[in-house]
Amino acid sequence: MPDPGRVWRIHPPGAEPIRCNAVARACGASRALYRLDQERPPGALWPEKGDPEYQRVTATEFNSITEENAFKWVHIQPEPGRFRWEWADCVADFAERHGQRVRGHVLVQRETLPWVDALQGRELLDRMEDHITHVVQRYRGRIHQWDVINEILTDAPPLPGENLHTLGPESLVESTWKRESGIAFIEAAFRAARRADPDALLFYNDYFHESDLPRAPCDPPCPEIPGVFDAMICWKLRRAELLIDHLRALEEGGRPLIDGVGVQMHLHAVDHYRRDPACFTRRLRHFAERLTNRGVMVEITEMDVSLMDLYREYCDTPDVRPVATPEALALQAQIIRDVLGACLAVRGVSGVTFWGVRDRDSWLGPFFAKTDRSDLLPVCRNPHVHMPLLFGDNPDTPDTVELLWKKPAYWAVHHVLVECAQAH
Ligand code: XIL
Repeated sequence: MPDPGRVWRIHPPGAEPIRCNAVARACGASRALYRLDQERPPGALWPEKGDPEYQRVTATEFNSITEENAFKWVHIQPEPGRFRWEWADCVADFAERHGQRVRGHVLVQRETLPWVDALQGRELLDRMEDHITHVVQRYRGRIHQWDVINEILTDAPPLPGENLHTLGPESLVESTWKRESGIAFIEAAFRAARRADPDALLFYNDYFHESDLPRAPCDPPCPEIPGVFDAMICWKLRRAELLIDHLRALEEGGRPLIDGVGVQMHLHAVDHYRRDPACFTRRLRHFAERLTNRGVMVEITEMDVSLMDLYREYCDTPDVRPVATPEALALQAQIIRDVLGACLAVRGVSGVTFWGVRDRDSWLGPFFAKTDRSDLLPVCRNPHVHMPLLFGDNPDTPDTVELLWKKPAYWAVHHVLVECAQAH
């Protein structure tokens, strides 16, 4: 039987659809994220105006929803004291109608609004606590897990003098929160969330350079953590462990402040993976073990596997839509099988969320089209090269919006979940 602590339901092959956690681009279009001046287009899950096929797939194939943007500060409190709930309400209502759990993403992130940036000292922290209290209390009992804080650990090599034994401001990326409070905002955020809904599970969510894993050599080992990681992951993981230790040592209502770590898992199907998949999965498993050994849950929170590296030649011709070869789709499926297999073998890994349902809606297209990190990330103007999710357009009827095609990636998830159920 599946571990009851894990949230997916699994059915024998062929009987019923897989039900794993999924993110849904729910009631609004994410393109609107930083364009508050523009009206949001009606989103796919919006009851009257939405997309019935998208709703059907989201309702029947998944047992958990994370909305990519609806719960972010920029949407919920765009101006001081003006809360806009309709988008987040729509997601919570949709999930309730279909018996799904909700992961709330996210209460505090590095990116902030200009009006928040202008605040100082205690006033900033008061505003943050007020925001968290409003949002978490409103959905009390309806949101299963909150990403309380997102992406605030630096992955840079340690600065001279950085103490890798205690969490300090040097462990963090630059942000308004750090500027005004050092590390104090972290404890304050988790405390406020815990008070507002003592039953919700509280997570720290981040990327851990998963996409660099396949490129990094297995040796030499990371100096701080013997045996497994390349330096970047090593430092970031070390800082995550410090963050966990910091928050586990603090209590609110008789419980430690943190319950889990979200590992985003945005991957690229790169050639290197083909050369040494065993190394890749070994490191990943070890990574999950190190986190769960600290007594916290681990959840894969934003998985996708981009095929961009295989279709780079199309990056400058955005109107051309490459058709993925069977080999490319099989490689993607294999990566999903290996990664999920390695992670789910670790007790304490409690679920997996895909960052989107259909290839055509993935955030990766717009993100790579104009990344502001072109020093690190390639720019790719063609949104069709990624094909990173479980559902694609039917290759036989590419113009039909109905009949979403279950890709080999979908069956890979199915397979892993069935195996996982049998193993427990
Ligand atoms: C992304 C959304 O998917 C996009 O729609 C939006 O434009 C930008 O944010 N890691 C995170 C998420 O934690 O919040 C990001 O979501 C994707 C990367």
